[in-house]
Amino acid sequence: MAAPLPAPSPLAKHWDLDPDVVFLNHGSFGACPRVVLAEQQLLRKELESEPVRFLHRELEPRLDTARAELAAFVGADAADLAFVPNATTGVNTVLRSLSFAPGDELLVTDHEYNACRNVLDFVAAGSGARVVVVPLPFPIDGPHVVVERVLAAVTARTRLLLIDHVTSPTGLVLPVAELVAALHARGVDTLVDGAHAPGMLPLDLRALGAAYYTGNCHKWLCTPKGSALLHVRADRQEHIRPLVLSHGANSRRTDRSRFQLEFDFPGTHDPTPYLCVPAALRFLAGLLPGGLAEVQRHNHELALAGRQLLLDVLGGPAPAPASMLGSLAAVPLPPDDRPPEGPLGLDPLQQALFAQHRIEVPVMRWPSPRLRLLRISPQVHQSQEQHQYLAAAVATELRRGGRP
Ligand SMILES: Cc1ncc(COP(=O)(O)O)c(C=O)c1O
Repeated sequence: MAAPLPAPSPLAKHWDLDPDVVFLNHGSFGACPRVVLAEQQLLRKELESEPVRFLHRELEPRLDTARAELAAFVGADAADLAFVPNATTGVNTVLRSLSFAPGDELLVTDHEYNACRNVLDFVAAGSGARVVVVPLPFPIDGPHVVVERVLAAVTARTRLLLIDHVTSPTGLVLPVAELVAALHARGVDTLVDGAHAPGMLPLDLRALGAAYYTGNCHKWLCTPKGSALLHVRADRQEHIRPLVLSHGANSRRTDRSRFQLEFDFPGTHDPTPYLCVPAALRFLAGLLPGGLAEVQRHNHELALAGRQLLLDVLGGPAPAPASMLGSLAAVPLPPDDRPPEGPLGLDPLQQALFAQHRIEVPVMRWPSPRLRLLRISPQVHQSQEQHQYLAAAVATELRRGGRP
């Protein structure tokens, strides 16, 4: 009989996670707790009981309520916030709304999320603009390295910086406030891809002042999938159009901005993931006595402790200072020449951890196909015991692969 799996945290009772999996990848797609899913189910029942009332008469005030709560949470004016289904859509929306000319330079780092880098490449190819990639080291000494390297790449032709608030492969919190301000002073706008930020980090989008900011609610805010925010500074809203144009485009209404009229109804869809934002905020606020701030601290500490357990097995110093981590932490693995496996191109170690140890955790090939990072992403449903189990499993698999 197989040994029992380590228990998740007692707070895992709020989720319907598979008890036969050690689920250590909250980062990729989030996981929605039961109470929020129940709220979504209620909303869907209401919607289907009278679709016209819900989608035609009531959707706008319902969206306004959800948006007002989200705006207060992320420090924004509700008028500057639109709901979009995910951060990829947020990045597409901005980049495909803007016009660039041959010779323009679009800055991005080599830690950028692949899907969003694809959008930048697409837009650059269509306009003759040039994508300028700023290499950032990993291991990294501190946020000053990011600021120095990005600013050194700015020229008179730079038009935009696309930068992650929290990087995906390396799990770093980047100094976006300093970058936004420094680029603004040079006349350059910033699009912050904050896919991981809402719920993981305290946010004050008004103070940040970025021209564009997008972030998921379905990762660390734990809403149902298909819920994200797009924040566009008031002076940039005129040029930002949704990817799908609908009735808002020629609306004669003057009681709300064209920005809101266009984004609020992109055709018939299921808006319940947006409408669940208040329920998700309530859920997270009530989980621990110190509210969401304590959840964030707790997850950060679990990330630091989990990273240390892995470093104890793998050797080597911490690849980034604790101040650059939120609730993600990545550690370098020994190089591996084995090809990725299966149609999804998964790393053999990721496959083995799942198949042999029932652990769901990502192993990313970055920055080159031989180099790999293992990333943990603690949310309160995870436990230290699960991370101890992961570290032991990594040691077993590296030994099995003929490595020390
Ligand atoms: C930095 C970054 N941007 C964008 C995304 C895409 O998120 P989504 O698939 O929800 O659009 C991710 C997903 O992990 C990410 O880490």
